[in-house]
Amino acid sequence: MSALQAINNEAQCNMPNGDAIEPLFQVSDITRLFGPDKGCQAVSFELYPGEVLGIVGESGSGKSTLLNVLSGRCQPDAGTIHYRQSDGVLTDLYASSEARRRTLLRTEWGFVEQNPRDGLRMTVSAGANIGERLMAQGVRNYGTLRTESLRWLHQVEIDASRIDDLPRTFSGGMQQRLQIARNLVSHPSLVFMDEPTGGLDVSVQARLLDMLRALVRDLGLAVIIVTHDLAVARLLADRLMVMRRSRVVESGLTDQILDDPQHPYTQLLVSSVLQP
Ligand SMILES: Nc1ncnc2c1ncn2[C@@H]1O[C@H](COP(=O)(O)OP(=O)(O)OP(=O)(O)O)[C@@H](O)[C@H]1O
Ligand SMILES: [Mg+2]
Repeated sequence: MSALQAINNEAQCNMPNGDAIEPLFQVSDITRLFGPDKGCQAVSFELYPGEVLGIVGESGSGKSTLLNVLSGRCQPDAGTIHYRQSDGVLTDLYASSEARRRTLLRTEWGFVEQNPRDGLRMTVSAGANIGERLMAQGVRNYGTLRTESLRWLHQVEIDASRIDDLPRTFSGGMQQRLQIARNLVSHPSLVFMDEPTGGLDVSVQARLLDMLRALVRDLGLAVIIVTHDLAVARLLADRLMVMRRSRVVESGLTDQILDDPQHPYTQLLVSSVLQP
C-alpha cells in the first residue's frame, strides 16, 4: 500500500450517521505527454471533500499539465478521472461531453488562474463578473444577483462602491480576489488553482493567502493547488504531491513531506528553499 493510499484509507472515516465519506475525485493512472517526460504520467490519487492537495515541483515538471487534465481542460492520453457530482453520482470526466465539462467548471467546480485577466471578463463590471456564475445556475432575479455580488465583494475585502467598476481599474491583488469571488459564489465543491499568488507582491501575496485559507476552511472546499512556493504549500495544503520530470516522486501529508522528505529530489527542493 502506498503512503497516499494509507492516508486515504485513514481519511475514509464514518460520519456520525454511519455513512462512509466517499472520495470526491478519483484519478487513475493519468498520462498526458508532449514529449519524453514532458507533461505528466502515471498519476493516481483520491481526493476527499474539504481536502486541500498541493502539487509542487520545479518549473517544467508538469504541474500545470496535470492540473489542466484534472480540471477537464485537457484530454489525457491515458487514464481515467471520476468525480462525484453534487447529486452523489460518480461520473467519468472524459466520458462526459466537452459542454458538460465546461458547465461543471462554471458550477460545481472552479478554476483560479495565475493571471486574473485569464479568469475574469475584463469588459464587464466587478458585480457582473460575480453574478455570471449565478446566472449560469439559473438565478435571474436582479436583486438577488446584486445582493450576492455585494456579499462576495465584502467577503474578499473589496469595497462595495467598486461594484460597477471594470476589473481593469483594480490592482493585481484586487483582481485576484475578484477572480476568487467569481469562482466561489456558486458554492463549488472543488476548486483548481494554478499559482494563484504567483504574480503578486510579497505583502499582497500574504494577505491573499490568509484570505484563501479562511475561505477554504469556512466553506469546506476541496482544492487542488499548483505552486512552486513551498511556503504556500505549507500554509494551505493538507497533502502534497511532488512532481519531477512528469512523474510524482513523493506524496503524503504536507508536514511529513516538508519536515522529513524521503525522495532525494524532495530533499533538494526543501533544502534549497531553506537556504538564503
Ligand atoms: N501545449 C503544449 N505543447 C507542447 N509542450 C507543452 C505544452 N504544454 C506544456 N508543455 C511542456 O510540458 C512540460 C511541462 O509543462 P508544464 O507547463 O505542465 O510545467 P509546470 O510544472 O506547470 O511549469 P511552471 O512551473 O513553469 O509553470 C514542459 O516541458 C512544457 O514545455
Ligand atoms: Mg505551470
